Amino acid sequence: MSETAQLDQWQKITTLEEIPILGARVIRAKVGEVAIFRNSENEVFAILDQCPHKGGPLSQGIVHGKTVTCPLHSWNIYLASGCAVAPDEGCTKSFEVKVESGVVWLNREELQRTHG
Ligand code: FES
Repeated sequence: MSETAQLDQWQKITTLEEIPILGARVIRAKVGEVAIFRNSENEVFAILDQCPHKGGPLSQGIVHGKTVTCPLHSWNIYLASGCAVAPDEGCTKSFEVKVESGVVWLNREELQRTHG
C-alpha cells in the first residue's frame, strides 16, 4: 500500500527517444534478452527477444502496428502478448511496461525471474 513499494516495483530502463521508431532496443536482464519495441504511435512493448518459432531475434524484425515480423521466417508476433498471429502458434514471454514523461519502466520482479 505504500507508494514507495509501488515505485520500487518499476525499474527505469530507457527513454522513448532511445528506442528507434518501428524498431527495438535490447536490454539484458536475468530473465534473458528483452526487446523493447516502439511503434509509429509511440506505444512501447517489451517481449523476450526470442521468436516462439525457432528463437529468432525479434528485435531485428520490422514493426507493423502492434505486431513485429520475425527476421528469420517472417512469423508475425503480437507485441502486447508475445504470441504468434494465427495460423502460427506459440508465445514468447511478454513484460509489463510503463511509459511516463518519455521514460520507459519495466516491472523489476518480472525482469529478475529466471527464464522458464
Ligand atoms: S524463428 Fe521466427 S519465424 Fe522462425
